Amino acid sequence: MLQRFFDNPRLIGAISPSSPALARAMTRQLAEGMAVFEIGAGSGAITRQILESTGAETLVVFEQDPYFAECLRRRVGPTRVVEGFFHDTVGALDEIPDPLVILSSVPFKSLSNSLHFKTVDAICRILLASPNRRLIQYTYFNRPPFVPRNANLRWRYLTRVWSNIPPATVWELRAGTDPKTAG
Ligand SMILES: C[S@@+](CC[C@H](N)C(=O)[O-])C[C@H]1O[C@@H](n2cnc3c(N)ncnc32)[C@H](O)[C@@H]1O
Repeated sequence: MLQRFFDNPRLIGAISPSSPALARAMTRQLAEGMAVFEIGAGSGAITRQILESTGAETLVVFEQDPYFAECLRRRVGPTRVVEGFFHDTVGALDEIPDPLVILSSVPFKSLSNSLHFKTVDAICRILLASPNRRLIQYTYFNRPPFVPRNANLRWRYLTRVWSNIPPATVWELRAGTDPKTAG
């Protein structure tokens, strides 16, 4: 992870994998048999927890880094890994499951503006199409990970994981949430 970070700090966004505590906080919302997309799986810290906690029959892992994508193919099988940027590749899937939980580690705060907005738009389009779809995203900051650019999508703060290095907050984004709970 450290080597990949030095090669491309803005895309990788962290020098070490998420801790088991953060991986558990991210996957706590999953239930048996739920369809899961994971964006930015990296070395697989959260992927491992997804497989342990739910089995995730329908799991699609998106990763732009070719080295990490190859490691992930060995871990979860080649058919479940999509190599490339999420906004470029998600359209090639036959269908977007519903209900769906998207777990994302994309480092929105450090991405280039262009990639940031393309990724946000791709995620928001999927969430807006159904109230049964949710994004779970962590960030190292105390505010929501990004601005959704659509008033029908609202953030909800879930938890803070102090023991992660650095400490992280975990957020949920979905359509049609009660505004009183929005972040
Ligand atoms: C901070 S690392 C997280 C790795 C792992 N999920 C974890 O929590 O330890 C972020 C990962 O997101 C990937 N990434 C960044 N932007 C992406 C995008 N638009 N589409 C797919 N992967 C992306 C990077 O290559 C990197 O592996």
